[in-house]
Amino acid sequence: DWTMAAFRAKAIEEIRAKVGSGRVICGLSGGVDSSVAAVLIHEAIGEQLTCIFVDHGLLRQNEAEEVVTMFRDHYNIPLVHVEAQDLFIDALEGEVDPEVKRKTIGRLFIETFEAEAKKLGGADFLAQGTLYPDVIESVSFSGGPSVTIKSHHNVGGLPERMNMQLVEPLRELFKDEVRVLGRELGLPEHFVGRQPFPGPGLAIRCPGGVTREKLAILRQADAVYLDEIRKAGLYDAIWQAFAVLLPVQTVGVMGDGRTYEFVCALRAVTSVDGMTADFYPYDMEFLGNTATRIINEVRGINRVVYDVTSKPPGTIEWE
Ligand code: XMP
Repeated sequence: DWTMAAFRAKAIEEIRAKVGSGRVICGLSGGVDSSVAAVLIHEAIGEQLTCIFVDHGLLRQNEAEEVVTMFRDHYNIPLVHVEAQDLFIDALEGEVDPEVKRKTIGRLFIETFEAEAKKLGGADFLAQGTLYPDVIESVSFSGGPSVTIKSHHNVGGLPERMNMQLVEPLRELFKDEVRVLGRELGLPEHFVGRQPFPGPGLAIRCPGGVTREKLAILRQADAVYLDEIRKAGLYDAIWQAFAVLLPVQTVGVMGDGRTYEFVCALRAVTSVDGMTADFYPYDMEFLGNTATRIINEVRGINRVVYDVTSKPPGTIEWE
């Protein structure tokens, strides 16, 4: 008779047996998977675990603060917060190719993570929030975006280079089960219920190239959009919702003046696993009100469009 409480107890035993008195480091992304893995491992081995959170400057509004506060202050888990925003954004500036952006982010992530791990004196184990679908996906695809994706997630090559073994306590679980486990471990509901967020973050929601200015605009628009979704009670019905800042300026009017600003695209999809998805059928009133709020509150955007593409043929992200 399988329960999450039983899974938790068994996982803790297995982690202890595997790790012994060794040291473990875990890369936190701010997402549900790595967070649940970290809390579970912390429960098993306490201060033998150190988490490393690489802040690449591509997160949503307030996200970095939330992660740091939760882990350091609430859970008392040793956490290194690496402020690497300039490193990533300087390297990305001017780059428009989506795959080059992903690879740049992946490479810098690994370099940053490795440098921090060395500062800690290394570790015997690297913990990751790998899920069952990640395990499957990495063997069943041999090209295309979904493979490059996961190359960011798992810090490829690092375990061998630093002579670390992997600890992946969520390998048998699906996303919905990870959420149940997160609740079982006492993670706050608003955190456990979080929509997925890609490793390369807002960089792949700025087609045409990342700049600090564009990231700031996108962050604000995204925050307004998600606020409207939460207020309408739609957050849990949607797999993923986010804003994309298009590299296109259009003409508008504001008061007596002409404006010439960016277009913001809104995306929302339903899905069970991210492999296929349908666009979310908002009512027009919601879309109209959200567009008005974004244009009124966010300097730099004067037009909002809604993406009605499902997957396939579209992907969830725009890049
Ligand atoms: P697509 O855009 O391929 O996205 O339909 C499917 C799911 O994967 C997420 N995604 C990524 N996650 N690194 C990640 O960690 C990536 O490079 C990446 N690209 C897409 C996307 O947000 C969606 O949940």
